[in-house]
Amino acid sequence: MAELSLRQVRKTFPGGIEVLRGIDLDVADGEFMVFVGPSGCGKSTLLRVMAGLETMTDGDLSIGDRSVRDLAPAERGVAMVFQSYALYPHMSVAQNMGFGLKMSGVPKAIVAQKVGEVAEVLQLTHLLDSKPGVLSGGQRQRVAIGRAIVRTPKVFLFDEPLSNLDASLRVQMRMELARLHKALGTTMIYVTHDQVEAMTLGQRITVFNGGRMEQVGTPQTLFNQPANQFVAGFLGSPRMNFIPVQAIQAGIQTNPWCLPHHVSRECVIGIRPEDFLLGSADAGMRACIDMVENLGDVVIAYTTLSGQPASIALKLPAAGCTLQSGDVIGLQVKPEKMHVFNQNGEALGPCAAI
Ligand SMILES: Nc1ncnc2c1ncn2[C@@H]1O[C@H](COP(=O)(O)OP(=O)(O)OP(=O)(O)O)[C@@H](O)[C@H]1O
Ligand SMILES: [Mg+2]
Repeated sequence: MAELSLRQVRKTFPGGIEVLRGIDLDVADGEFMVFVGPSGCGKSTLLRVMAGLETMTDGDLSIGDRSVRDLAPAERGVAMVFQSYALYPHMSVAQNMGFGLKMSGVPKAIVAQKVGEVAEVLQLTHLLDSKPGVLSGGQRQRVAIGRAIVRTPKVFLFDEPLSNLDASLRVQMRMELARLHKALGTTMIYVTHDQVEAMTLGQRITVFNGGRMEQVGTPQTLFNQPANQFVAGFLGSPRMNFIPVQAIQAGIQTNPWCLPHHVSRECVIGIRPEDFLLGSADAGMRACIDMVENLGDVVIAYTTLSGQPASIALKLPAAGCTLQSGDVIGLQVKPEKMHVFNQNGEALGPCAAI
């Protein structure tokens, strides 16, 4: 177990643009940190830099209380688990899990003992003699994780380890990872595109964008108090609606939404799809329903504000919902559910607070 500190970490590939643009981040000892961000923003590169598989162009990385920047991957005490788990097909589960230890000269009996213990934790004991070919996707991924655990790393780096699995296996493996983190107490850094994984596994989440960090915080902080429009739009499904203040002011002529007078015309109001209150067409702002998607438990309705190009997604409980495309409804929002962003996309806080 160890804390991990990144200081002004930069990475430029030869002849390329700067992929990591000065990352400063502290991950606490035993913390489960999740990295999210759009494709190409540098998440995998950062993990590979931490593992020592890529050199950093500038900056420093320490694990525990010492800099590992100049150490070889094997000397850093870091284990990485990838999306493609690449097990050796001709070796048994036990041989796959113990291979790294065996290659580093650990005596056979100790390798067997360690593999046995880890197999127990991952519920793989009955499969130790099987070849990877007969295992399910989830079992194979558990073997790949086991292969990392037997090395007793100080830090685990996971790069989208579950994205090859089907939906139900992902849920099962997500819970197993949470259980594993609790049992081992090891620092874990986990990259995912999956909102639910990010929100449920992460003690904190870092949102990356274009090689920079946009915000670091608990899932609840990022969701409820996003620092900027990018983070606000990144977490949540469907994503937060962004409505220019002009659009709201145009609607105010008939139906007032209470915006504080110092919210300027250049601001943007952000409202999550689940935060709208529905009324009749003469209460609130008029919106016309373009399309309705019924997901069983909730209904997603895509609407257009009257006289405005802005398209608004609503998320409503499915029970009792009779909305149809073509319906005209009134939308209302409590001021504390309206996020205000300035023209640079920086959050000014909820409407009720500014
Ligand atoms: N070896 C390399 N040489 C040159 N450019 C690279 C190399 N590896 C990655 N890149 C570039 O660095 C950028 C970041 O890539 P990276 O794989 O870190 O993104 P990512 O955030 O992991 O994306 P994804 O979510 O799609 O996995 C991309 O523009 C990519 O093309
Ligand atoms: Mg990646």
